[in-house]
Amino acid sequence: MSPAPLSILIAPDPRLKARARPVRPEDGALVADLVPRMFEAMYAAPGIGLAAPQVGVGLRLCIVDLQPEDKPAPVVMVNPAVTATSAETATREEGCLSLPNQYADVTRPARVTVRFSDFDGKSREITADGLLAACLQHEIDHLDGILFVDHLSPLKRNMILRRLAKEQRQKAAG
Ligand code: NI
Repeated sequence: MSPAPLSILIAPDPRLKARARPVRPEDGALVADLVPRMFEAMYAAPGIGLAAPQVGVGLRLCIVDLQPEDKPAPVVMVNPAVTATSAETATREEGCLSLPNQYADVTRPARVTVRFSDFDGKSREITADGLLAACLQHEIDHLDGILFVDHLSPLKRNMILRRLAKEQRQKAAG
């Protein structure tokens, strides 16, 4: 029997606001089990990024796949850290699988360098701009309990969270 599919937590679940702990060598079996299931949940959603806290696992682990030209390009990031950011910023519309149907413009550094370990434990570094830069920062934010709405004004954030709560109530009521 295959394990039940992972469900993605929806804001304001408190687990989305917690700071995740680093992945340690002894977490190997957990990570090996979790990563394919996270990809399954992300592709099913569908989404381009997913962080472990979004499936209720408080580990510094996230996955990204921008699927350039509709081809899979999966990236697994274990213990990712932003090591450099550009002074130049870029504003881009973001969404999040934990805030379904909610979108807003978010301003972030236009370019970032991220250091992480890959699925095989190999140390890697990516310097990205454009959509990938925003996506990497968004996913790493999740590991610190930060959602994209936390980059907005309180007014805008509360408007989105209220709209999300209302939509979730309507969905639950059928
Ligand atoms: Ni997200």
